[in-house]
Amino acid sequence: MTGRATIIGTGSYLPKYILTNKELEKIVRTSDEWITTRTGIRSRRIAGPGEETSKMATRAAISAMEMAGITALELDMIIVGTITAEMVMPSCACLVQKEIGAETAFAFDVSAACSGFVYALEIADRYLKNAPDMKILVIGAETLSSRVDWQDRNTCVLFGDGAGACVVSGSKSDAGMLASQLYSDGRLWQLLSLDAAPRRYCPAVDYGAVPERNKFCDGSAFNMVGKDVFKHAVREMGNAVENLLEREGITLDDVSLLIPHQANIRILKSLAERVNLPFKKVYTTIQKYGNSSAASLPAALDEANREGRLQKGDLLLFSVFGGGFTWGVVLWRW
Ligand code: ACO
Repeated sequence: MTGRATIIGTGSYLPKYILTNKELEKIVRTSDEWITTRTGIRSRRIAGPGEETSKMATRAAISAMEMAGITALELDMIIVGTITAEMVMPSCACLVQKEIGAETAFAFDVSAACSGFVYALEIADRYLKNAPDMKILVIGAETLSSRVDWQDRNTCVLFGDGAGACVVSGSKSDAGMLASQLYSDGRLWQLLSLDAAPRRYCPAVDYGAVPERNKFCDGSAFNMVGKDVFKHAVREMGNAVENLLEREGITLDDVSLLIPHQANIRILKSLAERVNLPFKKVYTTIQKYGNSSAASLPAALDEANREGRLQKGDLLLFSVFGGGFTWGVVLWRW
């Protein structure tokens, strides 16, 4: 067994409630046409009671463990990438541990915004280098609907809720994490932030689009300079992909599928264009789920896996970008 992380099971959970662009037109001054053209998003999932971040993470985890054929007692470690845990303390990971009964695992969250899942995966890979027998649950889970300002059309149309999970262990073959590179640039934090502003009443509750438990939204919620985020996301994700491939001596022709953080369809198209990757090799779920931050990549990975899009031996790229700024890229053999 090598110390390279390999995925032995994937899972995901998306909330039941589907909030369409048409419904959003009744909440803020926007249109289906504007949202679709600028972002590619047609609908997003919104968490309701019983679908808190840790609950969705738990469901995704159970599904991943079922696929891996392991029980919770076999887990050694649980890492959750999230910026929207129900509480600051305990961590979402500890709540998942309790829910699934992973009594012998240790658990913690990683705060790296939309890059959270890939940061967590990288940590898992480093642990496996020393202890390849470990079984590690890596999760991305978010309830962004509880934090967006539903009166701010600049941001509320973009986000959705959900969770995705993987069980990883040391690889017995040449499959798994081949290479990765993480980055951060805190100097640019003002371009995308989520503060802990006083909570205020959320009018979308009256409309029925937002669950009652989210009736107090964080007033100033997301602060985003959309155009600059766009520019940096495309440039940095593009550079990261190109640098990693060059370092590893691999060309994009060798890559079967890019599974990116689902930020915005135009960001993903610009990224594909920039690195010269045919867009049919980019896996997208943004149209139906919106941007669910750290949850978007693992949920997309699970969907691609269950659809049979991933064949043994395929070379995959995972590419992420988020607040901080944080970003990163992973080269993975399926
Ligand atoms: N409906 C209708 N009009 C809107 C909406 C909306 N939902 N939101 C903004 N507008 C208006 C603006 O007020 C502005 O009007 P004005 O010209 O009268 O002032 C106009 O549309 C154009 O606004 P811009 O900000 O110039 O629009 P832009 O083309 O830049 O698109 C967008 C905005 C979609 C946010 C784009 O900048 C973007 O995709 N940025 C990336 C942001 C992102 O993905 N954030 C997610 C978090 S980070 C991550 O996951 C990587």
